[in-house]
Amino acid sequence: MVKVYKNVCITGAGNGIGRAIAIAMSNEGYNVVCADIDLKQAKDTLDFILNKQGSGIAVETDITKAFDIKNMINSTVDEFGSLDILVNNAGVTRTSNIMDLTEKDWYWINDVNAKGTFFSLQAAANQMIKQNQGGRIINMASVGGKGFVDVSNAIYAASKGAVISLTKTAAQELAKYKITVNSICPGITHTNILSTIVKKRALEQNKSEEEIMKHYVRDIPLQRPNDPEDIAEMVVFLSSKGARNISGQSYNIDGGLIPS
Ligand SMILES: NC(=O)c1ccc[n+]([C@@H]2O[C@H](COP(=O)([O-])OP(=O)(O)OC[C@H]3O[C@@H](n4cnc5c(N)ncnc54)[C@H](O)[C@@H]3O)[C@@H](O)[C@H]2O)c1
Repeated sequence: MVKVYKNVCITGAGNGIGRAIAIAMSNEGYNVVCADIDLKQAKDTLDFILNKQGSGIAVETDITKAFDIKNMINSTVDEFGSLDILVNNAGVTRTSNIMDLTEKDWYWINDVNAKGTFFSLQAAANQMIKQNQGGRIINMASVGGKGFVDVSNAIYAASKGAVISLTKTAAQELAKYKITVNSICPGITHTNILSTIVKKRALEQNKSEEEIMKHYVRDIPLQRPNDPEDIAEMVVFLSSKGARNISGQSYNIDGGLIPS
């Protein structure tokens, strides 16, 4: 008998992809914990969910801080009784060419994307092991982690490569507890991160933002960037009973942008 999971915690739920995931999971009937470093944004997502008769809480969480991660997990369990699914979505970047990247960029990007993702996964797995009912962990990687670097930067790519690698090893280690671990690798997706990148590239290249976007879309075989909802639907699937035997995978959602 496969347990039907009910309670999901999503980091970076205040904006973009995380917000779309929170709404999609609420539409599926999950209790949703909206965790974000920006509590106002997390509350905004939560209000949207509550207005649609969904259920959830908002928790101020900086995933680079051990105390905040612990509080995020404890708040989930205190409110809903268990943590069944963690969506490790929060991530940051800044657009830059390799020669302009700094040590500060290295620490900032890796602190959130690699370290924050690892310690959130570790804390969630600890809780799931205690519950003894399995669980799902879904990490947000990127096509950047598989070598596509055009829109972002090399440090970001390395941090997302770490997420893909962590997904494989954690999946193997946690399988004995019936915890699955998978990643999603979004391609170009309409969110604040993308707007910031497009603005910077437009300035650098003395082009309009429309021209920069057109250039990105031209390279996508299906000729369409993602909407955040494209990613959210995959999270719904990976949380479902249908995905019970899938672990250690990193799925591209990118309109065919990169081949593997
Ligand atoms: N947008 C894209 O094109 C794209 C492509 C590939 C991968 N991704 C990944 O998808 C994920 C979501 O990105 P998005 O585009 O929705 O970005 P976004 O900037 O719209 O949202 C990110 C959210 O994470 C929160 N956040 C930032 N630092 C945090 C921290 N330390 N602790 C907790 N929350 C924090 C922000 O407040 C924000 O609400 C990221 O991991 C990103 O790397 C995005």
